[in-house]
Order: sequence, then structure tokens, then C-alpha cells
Amino acid sequence: MKHICVIGAGYVGLTTGVCLADLGNQVTCVEIDSRKLDLLNRGTLPIFEPGLGEMLQRNMRSGRIRFTSDYASGVPQAEFLFIAVATPTRAGGDGADLDYIRAAAETLAAHLHEHTVIINKSTVPIGTGDWVSDIVKRHQAPNSSFDVVSNPEFLREGSAVLDFLSPDRVVLGSTNPLAAEKVASLYLTLKAPIIMTDLRTAEMIKYASNAFLATRISFINEMSHICEQLGADVKQVAVGMGYDKRIGHSFLDAGLGFGGSCFPKDVRALAYMADEGGCHPQLLRAVLDINNDQRVRLTRKVLAIAQKSVNPIVALLGLAFKPNTDDLREAPSLDIARTLMAEGVTVRAYDPAAMKQAVTLLPGLQCAPDAYAAAEGADVLVLVTDWNEFKQLDMERIGNSMRSANLVDGRNMYDPDTVKAVGFTYIGVGRGNLNHASSADTHTMVAADEATIGSSLVLNGRGAGA
Ligand code: UGA
Repeated sequence: MKHICVIGAGYVGLTTGVCLADLGNQVTCVEIDSRKLDLLNRGTLPIFEPGLGEMLQRNMRSGRIRFTSDYASGVPQAEFLFIAVATPTRAGGDGADLDYIRAAAETLAAHLHEHTVIINKSTVPIGTGDWVSDIVKRHQAPNSSFDVVSNPEFLREGSAVLDFLSPDRVVLGSTNPLAAEKVASLYLTLKAPIIMTDLRTAEMIKYASNAFLATRISFINEMSHICEQLGADVKQVAVGMGYDKRIGHSFLDAGLGFGGSCFPKDVRALAYMADEGGCHPQLLRAVLDINNDQRVRLTRKVLAIAQKSVNPIVALLGLAFKPNTDDLREAPSLDIARTLMAEGVTVRAYDPAAMKQAVTLLPGLQCAPDAYAAAEGADVLVLVTDWNEFKQLDMERIGNSMRSANLVDGRNMYDPDTVKAVGFTYIGVGRGNLNHASSADTHTMVAADEATIGSSLVLNGRGAGA
């Protein structure tokens, strides 16, 4: 059992604190936002994250985790001090705003005693570990000593607990390998590969990982546009590519592109750092441009249909930037809804978790109690977020209740033939084969969804051998 203090109870800090408590450690979380602190002290999560609430309550009951706004009550007894505060994009620029990190480093420094390992979990610009070390040196309590370790977090919203407890790897960077080894001891039970490196390389691994995943998404989205123009189906292209072990299947879902608090911010920040360092980050710029174009193109498709009606109504299924979260940061839904409303379209939406925040961000948005109510009387139904609960909707009932049964599937979630059979006009992303003469043949030979691809491969194999 180790004494751990976590500064900042956002997504990363809270997941880190709760999971480390669950692994048997004694954890104090320092959070200066009094609203969040009140909720946490009552055992309530201030964020939406499946599974984390139950784990929080269990560890509060067993006394392994507590919350305070007071550095003096958490920092001095901690052997490990995690910094997990926000690093938003700096106002008016693309660089990261490090004000929260600076404040945390200055404050914790004054409360250090004996030897402490200070661990940076937040995604921070390359060089921040050295900078934090300088700040702490300038403010540190007498007779204290410390090391700084970079330990970037790779968890995803919506699966944060699972990602923390079953990481693909743990990355630790430090100028002192002994400090990194001490941190490694916290993760040994997770049985993940541990990569030990220097501070700046560890910081860069995080940015490079997010930028690479974002690049995959923009790559497949660019393919989707080409597929539309040339009469191919991007969904099947992705499946066919993914079986190449060097490529793999993940992060090749074409759709509305990436949103959220990480990919857009981190790609922008990396491009900014590259510019500052005299590089020319042309690939990163293209990744961002393609991501933006994807939303614009889909909105145009929706408008083109909607504007055929007088007083058009568009129904949005989903608002959150992805399923299993209420997070609307950089969500495609915001751009889509704003553009449609600016064109005089009535926008009605349903999201299982994000409607409360959406009404404040999107004045004029109508919210519906469920998907059926959202679609009633609408001219276009747009699937924006691929929540599981949208997979089993009675599409016939929905189509019959709409003024005009048009479905724009922003995540390629629905089977085109199934929805067409109940009367919908279907438009997906990169499904060029649907408008192509030979599409029926292609569809019977190569199944688009993962569940049936195995049998279709056998079919194709037989075809080839015959
Ligand atoms: C991302 C990374 O996946 C985490 O590893 C990382 O720790 C985190 O950022 C972070 O830096 O904190 P997250 O933003 O929670 O996690 O969400 P993802 O599940 O990665 O999805 C990001 C976006 O990409 C979503 O908008 C999703 O809809 C989109 N996406 C994802 C696609 O459009 N296509 C895909 O194939 C995959």
C-alpha cells in the first residue's frame, strides 16, 4: 500500500485516483472546484463515466480514497504525487495553456517533505517535465527532495476504468531511472509492458499516439470521399484493409470525424509545437482540415435534402462527441446543428446523456425525450453519435412517422438494405457503391459488417477457387 496524492479530479485525475485506490493504495485527491468537491464527497461523480461511480463508492466506504481542496492535507504524506490538471488550448492560439500546471506545481512544492515522486499524467507540451522541475525547485519546502516522472495517460472517455486497469502499455519518462522504477511498482499488477525513457520522449509518445490515431481517422475519411466519387464502399474498404496485420481494424471507421477534448486539441498543439520548432507539420494540418471537411460535407448533404421542404425539420440522433459520454467538446453535432439552424432549419435532437449541456450551447435546439419523438414529422433523420441504443430502433415506425423518410447515417451504423426495405432513402458516408450499378452484386458477395465478414471471405475464397 502506497500513499498517493492526485492533483485534479477531472477525467484523468479521478480515474487515476479511484483505480489506484481500488488497487489497494491510500489516495487523496486534491480538487479546488468546490462544486466538484461537494459532489465527490457525497460519492457522486461530476462526470459521466460507466463503472467509475460504483468503484468510487466502494473505495470511499473502505476509506481508501478521500477528497479535499487543501494541498496541506494531501501532499505532505504522499510518496507519489500525480498532477492531472487540465491543459486546455490557450485562448486565441493553438498552444496548450499551462496555467493550471504552473499553479499546481507552485502550490504542491511548498508542501513537499522528504522525497516525493511528482508524476505528470496530463497531456503536456514537450519540455513541460523540465519546466515543472524548475518551478518546484524554486518553491520547494526546505529539506525536501523530488523527482519528476512523465507518465502519460491513454484512457478513453467511456471506457476509462477498463483502459486504466488493462493498459496496452505504461510509459514512464524521467531523468532519474530509479524514480521511474518506483512509479513502475504501482503498475506491476496490471501486467502491461512498461516503457522507460526520458522525460521529453515520454511526453512525445502521448502526442504522437493521439496524432497517429487522428491521422488514421482522417485517412479513412479522405478514402470515404474518394469512395463516394468513384463508386466504392468505404466500410468494406476498411474491413479489407484491416485484415492486413500491419494495418489492423481499429480506428478505421469513416464518419463524422473526431471530436472530444483530446484529438483536436492535441493535434493542434503538436502542429503548433512543430511550427515553433521550425518544422512544417503538413500532415498534421491535413488531418485537421480533413476532419473539418467531413462535418461540412455531411451538413451539406442534409441541407440539400431538408431545403426541398417548406419549414424543414431535421432530427439528430446523438449529440455527444462519441457514445457513452455526455461530453460535447468539439462534437460534430454542434457544428451541424448551428449551420442547419442558421439556414432556418428546425433542429430537434435526442441524446441519452448530453442534452442538458446541449441546450445551453445550442440556443434554439429542440430536445426530444427519445429517438421516436425526435424523428416525428421530420424531413431528415441524421445519425450523429453511434450510441448502442440507436442500433435496435424500430426503423419502420420511425420512417412512417416522418414527413419524409430520409436517413443520413453519419456513422455508417445502419444496414442500407434493411432501412431501404422499410421505406427510407439512405445516405451514408463513403458508400459510393449504393449509387453504383453493380452495387447489388458487391453487397451479396462482400458483407459490410464485421459479424458476417468471416462467411463472406469463405464465399469469396470459394469463388476464387472455382
Ligand atoms: C483519445 C484516445 O483514444 C485515448 O487513448 C487518449 O488517452 C485520450 O484521447 C486522451 O488523450 O485523453 P477519447 O478522446 O476519449 O480518447 O476518444 P476516442 O474513443 O479515441 O475517440 C475520439 C474520436 O474519434 C471520437 O469523436 C470518435 O467518434 C472518433 N473516431 C474514433 C472515429 O471517427 N473513427 C474511428 O474509427 C475511431
